[in-house]
Amino acid sequence: IKKIAVFTSGGDAPGMNAAIRAVVRASIYYDKEVFAVYRGYEGMIDNDIVPLDARSVGNIIQRGGTILKSARSKEFRTPEGRKQAYDNLRARGIDALVGIGGDGTFTGLHKFYEEFKMPVICIPGTIDNDLPGTDYTIGYDTATNTAVEAIDKIRDTALSHNRLFFIEVMGRDSGYIAINSGIAGGAIAAIIPEEKMTTDELIATLDKSDKRSSLVIVAEGGKSGSAIEIAKQVNEKFSYYDTKVTILGHLQRGGSPSYFDRVLASKMGIAAIEGLIQGKTDVMVGVRDKTMVYNDFVTTMNKDREIEPELLRIAKILSI
Ligand code: F6P
Repeated sequence: IKKIAVFTSGGDAPGMNAAIRAVVRASIYYDKEVFAVYRGYEGMIDNDIVPLDARSVGNIIQRGGTILKSARSKEFRTPEGRKQAYDNLRARGIDALVGIGGDGTFTGLHKFYEEFKMPVICIPGTIDNDLPGTDYTIGYDTATNTAVEAIDKIRDTALSHNRLFFIEVMGRDSGYIAINSGIAGGAIAAIIPEEKMTTDELIATLDKSDKRSSLVIVAEGGKSGSAIEIAKQVNEKFSYYDTKVTILGHLQRGGSPSYFDRVLASKMGIAAIEGLIQGKTDVMVGVRDKTMVYNDFVTTMNKDREIEPELLRIAKILSI
């Protein structure tokens, strides 16, 4: 491997810049040329590719978002789009790809590897923490801290007015942000996709409690509906509280990455380059019990990410 290209794809996540920096500097450290592909797979097809040096990634470790920009590309899903992307990379002599993103990014890389046999490696960058094969994805720690900060603020006003707040957090089909921000924010309940909680069960919990105000965290992908829908259902049957809904939305995607995400991204960026040099391909870097691991596509993407049972257990004990 002589020339490596790096790109970010899918939803951005705090810490992606730290990962880009690590990929670029590790490539140069190991005497490889390194290129940026802007706007993910879109930029690969549009030939938006430029060479980088060690200084190109200065002053970015602390910045949220991604300096390479991100996009979700429809064209890359077609064989013609992928062929165009491959031709653009090969025209510059690029012989390996590092993608930073979620399951869509990894799926794209996998297809690309199958078709062209170019070595590819994925770094998990998503706030959702929904990828099996790694204890943490880049951005999840920062996003959860951001959610907790917002929940603390809502708690102040909830208490002053004796209100019940339903706070919707991101996570797509994963309840990780919800369960952990719920525990850390002292919520009475967290409604998550991995666990069925009916409106009646929630009302029973609220009814049993002697709290004058309460917070319920709702994961956006929950099967009982959105925070607005759940609040409406609860209101119809249980009128003790004045009820409000707050959807935290994209504020969870921005902001300066936590120390944890910066270090995680730095480790993963270096592991990606070292993996490529060792001949690894079609794998996603992960961290398991503090050890860097490489997960192959087939075993990683066919497994559901489970919520740690201990989190569910302690959330229940603390909700009385
Ligand atoms: O995957 C990250 C994420 O922020 C999810 O939590 C959320 O469901 C989705 O992306 C939102 O996507 P978009 O930014 O395209 O609206």
